[in-house]
Amino acid sequence: MKKETRARVLAHGEIARGVYRLAVETKQVAAPGCFYMIRAWEDEPLLSRPISIAKQEDGVTEFLYLVVGRGTKLLSKVKVGLKITLVGPLGNGFPLESGKIALVGGGIGIAPLIELSHALDVPPDVFLGFRDETYGEEYFRAKEIYVATESGAKGHKGFVTELFDAKEYDVIYACGPTPMLRALQHKVGDDAKLYLSLEAHMACGVGACIGCTVASGDTYKRVCKEGPVFLSQEVQL
Ligand SMILES: Cc1cc2nc3c(=O)[nH]c(=O)nc-3n(C[C@H](O)[C@H](O)[C@H](O)COP(=O)(O)OP(=O)(O)OC[C@H]3O[C@@H](n4cnc5c(N)ncnc54)[C@H](O)[C@@H]3O)c2cc1C
Ligand code: FES
Repeated sequence: MKKETRARVLAHGEIARGVYRLAVETKQVAAPGCFYMIRAWEDEPLLSRPISIAKQEDGVTEFLYLVVGRGTKLLSKVKVGLKITLVGPLGNGFPLESGKIALVGGGIGIAPLIELSHALDVPPDVFLGFRDETYGEEYFRAKEIYVATESGAKGHKGFVTELFDAKEYDVIYACGPTPMLRALQHKVGDDAKLYLSLEAHMACGVGACIGCTVASGDTYKRVCKEGPVFLSQEVQL
C-alpha cells in the first residue's frame, strides 16, 4: 500500500475556462501515464480523486485538471504555499515505444500525453481535440501539432479522429473521453499499435475495491492497477 505524502503547492492557476495547472513539490519519480490520488480537503468528500501526471521534472510534478464536481472545485481553491495530500504515483504508465508515433488527446485527456511527448525518443505528431476553447498545446514536445475543435473556434472543425491516417503510424497513444477512445479503436483497427489511457470512477486507486473495472475478454481488469493504460485489443469499451 502506497503511503500518503503531503506536497507543497508551488504554482496554481486557471489556464482556460475551468482548466487549472497545478505544480507541487514531489520526491517520487513516475512513468508518463501514471497518476496520483489527490485530496485537498479534510473529511468530505470521502474519496481522493485520481489526476494524471502531466509533467515531472527536478522534483516538481505538474497536473492539468478540469473542474467538474466537488473535489476538483475544492482543489481549485488551494493557494500556493499550502500542502495537498497525494497517494502515488499509481498505475502502469505508457510503455515507451519507437517508430513513427502519434499522440491523440481529447479535452483534459491531453494531460498525461504531455509528459509522454517529452519521454519518447523522437518527438511525436500530436493531435488534440476540444469542444471549443483550446489549451495546453505549448506544453508538448512535438514534430507537428494538429488541433480540431467541434465549434470550429480553432484548427479543423470537427473531431480529432478525422485529422490523421492511422496507417501512417507505428504506434498511437490516446487519452480522452470514452466515446473518442471507442471511435479510435474502430478507426485504427490493426493499422497501428494503439494504447488507450482509460478513465473510471475510483474509490481506493490501489486495486483493493474492484470499483474501477473495464471488460477485458471474458474477464475484467482494474483501471487503477492493471491500467490506466491498455492495448486497444485488451479492452471492450
Ligand atoms: C487514471 C485517471 C486519471 C485522471 N486524470 C485526470 C487529469 O489529469 N485531469 C482531470 O481533470 N481529470 C482526470 N481524471 C478524472 C478526474 O479524476 C475526475 O474528473 C474527478 O475525480 C472528478 O471529481 P469531482 O469531485 O470534481 O467530481 P464528482 O463530484 O466526483 O463528479 C462530477 C461529475 O463528473 C463525473 N465524473 C467524475 N469522475 C469521472 C470519471 N472518472 N469519468 C467520467 N465522469 C466522471 C460524475 O459522474 C459527475 O457527473 C482522471 C481519472 C482517472 C481515472
Ligand atoms: S479504484 Fe479500487 S480497485 Fe481500482
